[in-house]
Amino acid sequence: MCCLYIKHNKAPLANKYSIEKVVSIVKKYSKSPITGENYLIPQSNDRNALSLFLDKNRARELIAVQGLGFVGTVMSLVVANSDGDQYAVVGVDQATSNSYWKIGDINSGVLPVVSSDPLVEEFFKESKKRKNLYATYDTETFSHANVIIVDINLDVTKVRDKDNNIQSYDVPMGGFKAAMGAIGEVCKEDVLILVETTVPPGTCKKIVYPTIVEKLKSRGLATDKFKLGHSYERVMPGPNYINSIKNFYRVYSGMNEASADAVEKFLKTVISTDEYPLTRLKTTESTEMAKVLENSYRAMNISFAIEWSRFAENSGVDLYEVIDAIRLRPTHANLMYPGIGVGGYCLTKDPLMASWASEQFFDLDGGLQSSVKAVEKNDKMPMFCFDFVSNILKQHDRESTNIGLLGVAYGPGIGDTRSSPVEDFYNRLSSKYDNIKCHDPYVSMWAELDLEIETSLEIFLNNKFDVLIVTTGHNDYLKNNAIYELIEFAGKGVIIIDTVGLLDLQKLPAQYTQNNNFFVLGVGHNEE
Ligand SMILES: NC(=O)c1ccc[n+]([C@@H]2O[C@H](COP(=O)([O-])OP(=O)(O)OC[C@H]3O[C@@H](n4cnc5c(N)ncnc54)[C@H](O)[C@@H]3O)[C@@H](O)[C@H]2O)c1
Repeated sequence: MCCLYIKHNKAPLANKYSIEKVVSIVKKYSKSPITGENYLIPQSNDRNALSLFLDKNRARELIAVQGLGFVGTVMSLVVANSDGDQYAVVGVDQATSNSYWKIGDINSGVLPVVSSDPLVEEFFKESKKRKNLYATYDTETFSHANVIIVDINLDVTKVRDKDNNIQSYDVPMGGFKAAMGAIGEVCKEDVLILVETTVPPGTCKKIVYPTIVEKLKSRGLATDKFKLGHSYERVMPGPNYINSIKNFYRVYSGMNEASADAVEKFLKTVISTDEYPLTRLKTTESTEMAKVLENSYRAMNISFAIEWSRFAENSGVDLYEVIDAIRLRPTHANLMYPGIGVGGYCLTKDPLMASWASEQFFDLDGGLQSSVKAVEKNDKMPMFCFDFVSNILKQHDRESTNIGLLGVAYGPGIGDTRSSPVEDFYNRLSSKYDNIKCHDPYVSMWAELDLEIETSLEIFLNNKFDVLIVTTGHNDYLKNNAIYELIEFAGKGVIIIDTVGLLDLQKLPAQYTQNNNFFVLGVGHNEE
């Protein structure tokens, strides 16, 4: 067993000091993956800085945003940039090593999200000019807020076997309930709480409402004045990050009529609702269901393409050509192309969340089996992609083959690697090949694998690769024909495998021919 000692002291710390003291000696830091800055996690509250910010923004209404992730950070920017300039925004996240850096980054003038949308930086610049955006870990913030927007994560845990079959899944609600408790402990009795987090249908009624009522009651406050609404996010953290919040259709609901009215009134001040009218649904269960149904539909649509992509490969058919032909029918215009798999935080969990709620909250026997199957099929796609690549590289040996992966983010133009299909693919590939390097214009640190990633394409392609595999369809690769020119420069012997259908064979150097040294997942090749 290992004990902590301090210099010149023979006694183990635990004997001499209280646990609290040991913890305070071992200082905790939170490192920004964007700047590399190591922030010391504060041990006391943030009242002074918070008061200073509130004093300066006295003329503005305070909106608190709980959760400064991919959604909360950019929702904060949209609210802080509202046309009437009537809001001051305080983003509240956690003082933990995983999250505190987001607070540190925002207050140091750096955004904790990377995206290809230039509006994100513009909105950040404007909020700095207005001095109406602050980030903190101090939940006392909620006591000053007229509106609290909930943008925290609610995860689904999955147990999968080595072939990515889902064996079980769960939605642990403890953290989410505690977050609602932190609001209820200090909020105003007439606050508007707007839940944007994707939640199992039934959550606002069964978890959020009773938690807030219980906390208000215990503080001796009225329990019939607060408003509770749900309006889910359709944000897309790619090239249209800001507009996918500000200039897009929204669905909302309230716990009661007054709550729904309050949500509508607030959303009209931050979203372009004249152009994109709001849709009010009857109950919070309806909007909660709408979100997970929307994403389950998409996940199923993709899993369908995966099945057909394997069929096409085995039968020598170019599925892209086939899908383009079918897409001309307006009723079939959203048929999906094949790819390396589905990633990101939402499509990989939301169908499971829906199924969980159907069983746990509404006693539906067996849950939503097709939706769960869709997630499982999608989770298997990187494995099929690995089989496709292994088959092409059968003659390549482990030690001497240099492989370059183009893209590690889960989608084009996004700096998010959560549940990226490239992760599973990379893990499988690295069990077979020793020399794999990765590039991504939006990711410098691949947090899940603790890997540094090259962000300059030019530097990356200076490596002498034998095989280049396109794993994320970043448009940056196509800008000014960058990738084609660099491939030309890289020399003749490179095999190119495109798992996302990004590259155009016609633009590649003349020596490339389909299924000879250029391969596309979903484009079949007969081996006979
Ligand atoms: N990322 C997307 O593209 C997207 C799109 C639509 C909807 N959503 C949904 O929006 C929600 C947020 O997603 P995200 O991608 O921003 O997640 P995220 O993990 O990037 O951010 C969540 C943040 O909440 C913080 N948090 C957790 N508990 C907290 C607490 N008690 N108090 C304060 N902060 C807390 C975490 O530290 C984290 O920084 C999820 O429900 C997600 O499904 C996400």
